Amino acid sequence: MSLVVLLPMMIIFFFFAMIKPALSQNLPAIAKPNCVDRCGNISIPYPFGTTENCYENPSFMVVCNETSNGTQLLLGNMPIKSINLDGQLTVNKLIGHVCYHRNGSLASIFETSTTLTTHLTISNTANTVTIVGCDAYGFVSGQRLGRSYLTGCMTTCYTREDLMEGSCTGSGCCQTSIPQNVWDMDIDLGSYRNYTRVWDFNDCGYAFVAEKNAFNFSYQSLIDLKNVTRLPMVIDWAIGNGTCKEAQMNNTSYACLSSYSACNETKNGNGYRCSCIKGYQGNPYLVDGCTDIDECKDPVLKQLCGNYECVNNEGGFDCPCPKGYHGDGKKTGVF
Ligand SMILES: *[C@@H]1O[C@H](CO)[C@@H](O)[C@H](O)[C@H]1NC(C)=O
Ligand SMILES: *[C@@H]1O[C@H](CO)[C@@H](O)[C@H](O)[C@H]1NC(C)=O
Ligand SMILES: *[C@@H]1O[C@H](CO)[C@@H](O)[C@H](O)[C@H]1NC(C)=O
Ligand SMILES: *[C@@H]1O[C@H](CO)[C@@H](O)[C@H](O)[C@H]1NC(C)=O
Ligand SMILES: *[C@@H]1O[C@H](CO)[C@@H](O)[C@H](O)[C@H]1NC(C)=O
Repeated sequence: MSLVVLLPMMIIFFFFAMIKPALSQNLPAIAKPNCVDRCGNISIPYPFGTTENCYENPSFMVVCNETSNGTQLLLGNMPIKSINLDGQLTVNKLIGHVCYHRNGSLASIFETSTTLTTHLTISNTANTVTIVGCDAYGFVSGQRLGRSYLTGCMTTCYTREDLMEGSCTGSGCCQTSIPQNVWDMDIDLGSYRNYTRVWDFNDCGYAFVAEKNAFNFSYQSLIDLKNVTRLPMVIDWAIGNGTCKEAQMNNTSYACLSSYSACNETKNGNGYRCSCIKGYQGNPYLVDGCTDIDECKDPVLKQLCGNYECVNNEGGFDCPCPKGYHGDGKKTGVF
């Protein structure tokens, strides 16, 4: 064969030789093919998506807003901090406040409300309702399960010394939990004496539903919260309607599409969630979404093989015994 024929063949050979390892190292897709799976540094896993072909349902529509001052992923008008496949997404939610003048007249007020689409529910386990101020009460109200609900707390103090540093138990700060199945919520703030008694050190009250640990109360909070406009709030998401058993009866609509997926019931909101079974990882909502985990690449699991070889297999791994030995080569095994 002449060089003229050989050379292009060699180029083609090397081209494929180089492309193959690159392909096999690719992480499994988290979004549908040809869909935007990232906005800035936030990933957008299916069932979420930015366009009609890319989300499972309009409830899961998000908007990637790329402007000159930065990129934001939005759920309605709320910037998204993260979306995870365990059924939670975190948004940066505006916090409410009310401030008074020394003479007791209202200086400014901002109250927040949230209305979520089907499949999205305010997380009752990850969030807490917090009211901050020395002359404040606040309540959270709205709709759940087709009926109204109302919850809240009050906090007072007369001097700076009354404030209990580091604890949110009614003096300068109070907390309460949010009920399950809340998709609609208004937060209102009020005051007993318009802050006239405490105005010298506290002229505003604050109210928010935020992720636990996103806020720790201290005297400084009364000052610092003036500059805080948003705090993270966790939203639970689920797919479909009804229980796993009901969903599994309809093959057309069942959303756990990966062969290596399982269905899990939700405690908050409608529908169910999908997960990859043990030994697999990825997106259970996509047909080929869950892929085998190579446990031998995990230094901790690999340790279980001790000095023996670690061999990955579908859904697990083995530590085969050397020739002449038998049993399970894992450290916990018998020799
Ligand atoms: C996108 O960001 C710009 C600038 O911050 C803002 O004016 C606009 O309303 C945003 N678009 C959406 C859909 O929120
Ligand atoms: C209270 O004080 C504010 C700010 O100093 C002033 O604008 C307002 O008119 C006062 N209101 C009354 C009722 O005096
Ligand atoms: C609040 O305290 C917890 C526990 O000490 C800590 O993990 C968390 O980071 C704190 N949050 C903030 C915003 O400082
Ligand atoms: C709030 O932010 C402004 C502008 O960034 C700054 O000048 C001010 O000192 C801040 N106040 C507090 C209490 O942190
Ligand atoms: C199964 O789901 C499809 C798609 O949502 C729906 O059109 C169909 O009516 C359902 N079938 C039954 C038996 O519920």
